[in-house]
Amino acid sequence: MGNIAVQSLKESRAIDPAQELALSVLEGLSGQPKSLPSKLFYDDKGSELFKKIMHLPEYYPTSCEAEILGQQGAEVAKALSGQKVNLIELGCGDGAKTILLLNHLLQNKVDLSFVPLDISRAAIDFLIENLKREYGEIPFDIQGLVSEYFGGLSWLTENQANRNLVLFLGSNIGNFNEPTAMRFLRHLWHSLNDGDLVLIGFDLKKDLDVMYNAYNDSQGVTKEFNLNVLDRINSVLGADFNRSNFQHQGLYDVKSGAMESYLIAQSRHTVMVEELGKEFQFLPWEPIHMEYSYKYLPVEISDLASSTGFEIVENFKDQKGYFIDSLWKVKK
Ligand code: AVI
Repeated sequence: MGNIAVQSLKESRAIDPAQELALSVLEGLSGQPKSLPSKLFYDDKGSELFKKIMHLPEYYPTSCEAEILGQQGAEVAKALSGQKVNLIELGCGDGAKTILLLNHLLQNKVDLSFVPLDISRAAIDFLIENLKREYGEIPFDIQGLVSEYFGGLSWLTENQANRNLVLFLGSNIGNFNEPTAMRFLRHLWHSLNDGDLVLIGFDLKKDLDVMYNAYNDSQGVTKEFNLNVLDRINSVLGADFNRSNFQHQGLYDVKSGAMESYLIAQSRHTVMVEELGKEFQFLPWEPIHMEYSYKYLPVEISDLASSTGFEIVENFKDQKGYFIDSLWKVKK
């Protein structure tokens, strides 16, 4: 059985989480249009709701990526066969898809050390429980990191001994706009050594109805996921958002190529945020922008790789052609 440890990384701006939330809310609701950063989705309740989203019939990225990792993960594992490898997963979630790849790595005798990172401690604990259920005695070391993505990059810089394979699955990259994706990938490049590998999940541009339904599911889980951010602001910052004043809508923006999520005020009203000592006015039908989920073309994936210092080893696509897990190698 491997060693298991979970550690909370202190962000460089060591600021109290409630204050961080208050500042994000002040900045976002003072802007025009109003917005809230999508990282606010992932408190423990939000991570639970995201797990539910991943299992919705309409939310195709999960099943597409599971198909890719299950059927083609052996190709990734062969590139690392017999080697000592740090497997770092940024935004690990419940690990259901990761287990598919872990199984290929173990079959190919990769000597693994697994470093799952997530903003939610509950998500990492759940992943470890899943691994125990899958393996009984987990046959590799686990060092969980509770942190935002950039904390994972610092960890990489300080732990350089082994070959690294970094997983950034589930279209997490899609929640960054292009400049932020570039910044993130270049930072990742700096944190890695020549020849290290990165496997990134990209959701592809596709039929508009398929994308629309994925972000406007029939059971209303995505709506709940969005409204939970308002509940969180109410409970942590003493705000008085009334969730029934808001409608949820996911829309595809044809110019930016992103699904965008909004909470839309249905009437003129005021929201007080006690912690900020400030009221925010809402006009009827005024939106709060909640999230970008950028969709890609294969050529946009190649451009992103080459402009941030990576070489594409292989693009693994699902049968429907909805999703790509792109395997990149660091070139230094
Ligand atoms: C985590 N992220 C990649 C998901 C996405 O598709 O943008 C979050 C999500 N939002 C609504 N549904 C899923």
